[in-house]
Amino acid sequence: MNVRQEARQGTVIDGTTRVAGVIGDPVAHTLSPPMHNAAFASQGLGWVYVPFRVAPEHLGEAVRAVRALNLAGLNVTIPHKVAVLEYLDELDESARLIGAVNTIVNKGGRLIGYNTDGAGFLRSLRSDAGTEPRGRSLLLVGAGGAARAIGVQLVLEGASRVDVANRTYEKAKDLAQHLTQGAGGKSRAYALDELTPQVLRGYDVIVHTTSWGMAPQADVPPLISSDALSPDTLVCDIVYTPRETTLLRAAKAQGCRVLEGLGMLVHQAALAYELWTGQRAPVDVMYSVLETKLAERETD
Ligand code: ATR
Repeated sequence: MNVRQEARQGTVIDGTTRVAGVIGDPVAHTLSPPMHNAAFASQGLGWVYVPFRVAPEHLGEAVRAVRALNLAGLNVTIPHKVAVLEYLDELDESARLIGAVNTIVNKGGRLIGYNTDGAGFLRSLRSDAGTEPRGRSLLLVGAGGAARAIGVQLVLEGASRVDVANRTYEKAKDLAQHLTQGAGGKSRAYALDELTPQVLRGYDVIVHTTSWGMAPQADVPPLISSDALSPDTLVCDIVYTPRETTLLRAAKAQGCRVLEGLGMLVHQAALAYELWTGQRAPVDVMYSVLETKLAERETD
């Protein structure tokens, strides 16, 4: 049996095993460990991915442990994505502009922070929806951390405008200002009730970035009036439980193409895998693990 076949039989841990993982609090329900471990095993890599529950007061020690234990790297999730910045040696451009890190790479003891959330969305947009963001006008619904990551990445990759609509108008204004002055793009802010049919029809792509519509509160009317959508608009939701949100269902009924949130989850993980291993991620394996795990949850 070669290493690859052996790895497929189950994870073999020995003196050469590389360790990656995720720090967050909570981490009990994260889908990243099964996704990454299946990906490593499918490629015959002697790597494992472990969840670490880290309370905010231990964040600094946890990050220093990456060096001490020679971990390959970490994913960083709620509530540490912003607080972790002060413990890193270097930030890549997206992470710096987003102001949050979801992936740490240990480069010979130097800890480099990346943010693959926005880039993961763009990869999904390109590969799952076949849509190139360069030169497109997009509307983000929501102005939280996810909107910021996606918005910055869209500007960096040449979107012609990235406007922001949010329940709290002030936050939409702050993000629009950041996308303009910080990232060098074109952006304006809206309150949600300013999203008239005419406004909505002006966009090539609409991206819903809030948790509205997420199970168990899935059966809610979309935040935007979906009967006003043009069939030429691609409608994306970053919510992936359920896979078809009420927004996506309504958009389909208007004849729009839609993009579900699962792709962003897979591709942000695939990008982290690639940063750590230097190898192309087995995206199909990662997709199928997530599909299976989410289907199991639905029947729980
Ligand atoms: P994340 O990091 O997942 O983006 P966040 O930073 O807490 O989370 O941001 C949450 C986003 O969801 C915000 O845009 C928030 O709107 P407000 O800025 O007005 O709070 C939006 N959001 C959450 N619950 C909402 C609701 N019930 N209706 C409308 N927007 C909501």
